[in-house]
Amino acid sequence: MWIEVNADKLELLTLAQLPDREQVQRLAERVFGSGDRPRGWFARKLQRECIDNDMSFVAADTRGVPLQTACEDPQGWYGMVLVNAPPSRPGMAHCVTLGVLRHLQGRGVGARLMDAAVTQARRAGLRRMQALVEPALVAYYQSLGFTSQRVVRTMLAFGRGSTGATTNGGPERASPEYQASGPTPAASQGLGDTASPETDARGLGNGVDSAKGEPWSPDDLVHHVELCGWLAEAWERTPPDDRLTLRGPLWCAHTSREGKSRLVHRLLVARDVDRAKVQVTATEELLDAVAAGEPVLMYGCDAKLAQSLSTRGWATVQTGTEVERDL
Ligand SMILES: CC(C)(COP(=O)(O)OP(=O)(O)OC[C@H]1O[C@@H](n2cnc3c(N)ncnc32)[C@H](O)[C@@H]1OP(=O)(O)O)[C@@H](O)C(=O)NCCC(=O)NCCS
Repeated sequence: MWIEVNADKLELLTLAQLPDREQVQRLAERVFGSGDRPRGWFARKLQRECIDNDMSFVAADTRGVPLQTACEDPQGWYGMVLVNAPPSRPGMAHCVTLGVLRHLQGRGVGARLMDAAVTQARRAGLRRMQALVEPALVAYYQSLGFTSQRVVRTMLAFGRGSTGATTNGGPERASPEYQASGPTPAASQGLGDTASPETDARGLGNGVDSAKGEPWSPDDLVHHVELCGWLAEAWERTPPDDRLTLRGPLWCAHTSREGKSRLVHRLLVARDVDRAKVQVTATEELLDAVAAGEPVLMYGCDAKLAQSLSTRGWATVQTGTEVERDL
């Protein structure tokens, strides 16, 4: 059924046309592998990463079936592009995921999907599109009009605290879904920045405090700068029980429980101090505040930060290149 498909014949359906967009999960798992993902990972991704129903598409085989049937039957879907336009990044669309079933790759489906997403994003008044891609695909994205901006790494180390920060997340879940798509970094604005912190602060020793999910940009830290970060909306949309904000005298880290790991969504440090020194202090104190042995993932590290972390035992677990194009 799939074999004859070529780019001229495919039909692109927006997620808005699908009765249940969460059914795209099966296609995503066929393209990227089902891995050891927690139940509901795809719904969480759609929600947390603000996937836009009108800018995101599935490629479907509609030959011989009514459009309605094609929309309802995930068996006929063979490619997808998931795009968001979070308010925290004005004017910017993000291609969060682009994927085509292996045996249908190389027939122009990926290019058609991207073309549709670009057209819709342009219609929505957005000006640029960004994607985070693995090194092997940079050339492909360049062929779609993107240019490389910077390399971003996710770094891993292990907590070494005695008490350790914990969330009320219940039983541990399996591997985090964000590894399948790569979160995109973001500046802070909108969503939840005005919300009051869910306070349950407690000291962890060494001057470090923890509190359940503070706002992305806490009012008292307006003079801090971001060392690394993901997406304000993803932080605000993470279940409160999974969120924990850690604070040292010179830094603040928003973290969440992702499966067995703790993901640092954002690391802020005091501005008027030696940046290199505070970077070391912040990341060392952070590890001391996390329970011994708990994996800590720091997303969105630029080359300088990654280099500094690697000299102190952090490992690179994911390397991506941010690519961008005009719309
Ligand atoms: C990357 C992907 C989406 C491309 O979709 P596709 O439908 O196979 O791509 P297209 O048919 O539109 O384009 C194929 C062209 O891209 C080229 N291409 C494919 N992968 C490439 C790569 N890694 N580097 C450079 N060019 C590449 C092909 O050579 C072909 O060129 P041609 O048209 O001159 O022959 C698809 O291969 C895929 O799903 N890969 C696995 C999932 C993935 O890694 N997704 C991206 C991260 S979210």
